[in-house]
Amino acid sequence: MRSKARAHSNIALIKYWGKRDERLNLPAVGSISLTLSALWTETEIEFSPQFQTDQLILNDKTASPEETGRTSRFLDLLRELAGTNLKAIIKSENNFPTAAGLASSASGFAALTLAAARALHLSLSRKELSVLARQGSGSAARSIPGGFVEMYAGQSADGSDAFAEPIAPPAHWDIRLLIGITSGAAKKIGSTAGMNLSKTTSPYYQAWIDAQHADLTAMRQAILDRDFERLGELSEYSCLKMHALALSSNPGILYWNGVTVEAMHAVRDLRRGGTPAYFTIDAGPQIKVLCLPEDENEVREMLESIPGIREVVSNKPGPGARILEADE
Ligand code: PMV
Repeated sequence: MRSKARAHSNIALIKYWGKRDERLNLPAVGSISLTLSALWTETEIEFSPQFQTDQLILNDKTASPEETGRTSRFLDLLRELAGTNLKAIIKSENNFPTAAGLASSASGFAALTLAAARALHLSLSRKELSVLARQGSGSAARSIPGGFVEMYAGQSADGSDAFAEPIAPPAHWDIRLLIGITSGAAKKIGSTAGMNLSKTTSPYYQAWIDAQHADLTAMRQAILDRDFERLGELSEYSCLKMHALALSSNPGILYWNGVTVEAMHAVRDLRRGGTPAYFTIDAGPQIKVLCLPEDENEVREMLESIPGIREVVSNKPGPGARILEADE
């Protein structure tokens, strides 16, 4: 029983930060993301009665007991659905640095969900796959669909309405997202710990929750209208609000390095010069710049000229998660 799947990473344009239930990994707010063409995880899984324990190989190396444990607990959800306790060997490869704010957990858990469901012969809808992926990592629910995606916070206690679905397919709108890599190091505080700290200590937490609905509505419309300026403004605004929440936690959480800040200023300078370019940043130091195809080269040159940017990765709207191989 084996299968291999590929899922692309995604970047939130309207950010998710905060959980309404930690056990089921239910988000406190909805979010909107762009699936990325150039960053993906490929995961191959084999279940067999010959295996005594789950074994996880990440980028050709045996994963840590923590990573293996997290993956095993996640696979238990699928094993329960399939009525089996077979153990698995999982081989997962990212084509980008892991855990540096490039959402490897998003593509990782989405690829794992799809591969494991197929290997166990579970026939699940895209919605059910997204609900499952969410339990591995909140942003993973958004890597099941492709293109422009909305994740619902939902209201039910069991999480059955907390899933992601497409707003528009990749072909709807050719925009670009350039990632400037400022560091290859793993982030210092993970998103779950960061979100918990914000929820329990930030005086702005409730205000953040209350404002999210308006941002989601405006972003949905900007995407449908192909209004780039609006999409960019809303993305930068949501990003800075999320980081303000992280910074206002106690102790404050600072994901940026000096190069990140230089790049934020450079993006705004470019904009003052007439080029529509907007930044967004996740729980890590990488800078991500949204622009139109005709401005991609100018934005790339600007990023490459900033000392400390090691590499620039260009993305278009990318496809949803898919099966690459499966035995029948
Ligand atoms: O679901 P996680 O644990 O990957 O957390 C995502 C947090 C942010 O990337 C900062 C925001 C987002 O919506 O992706």
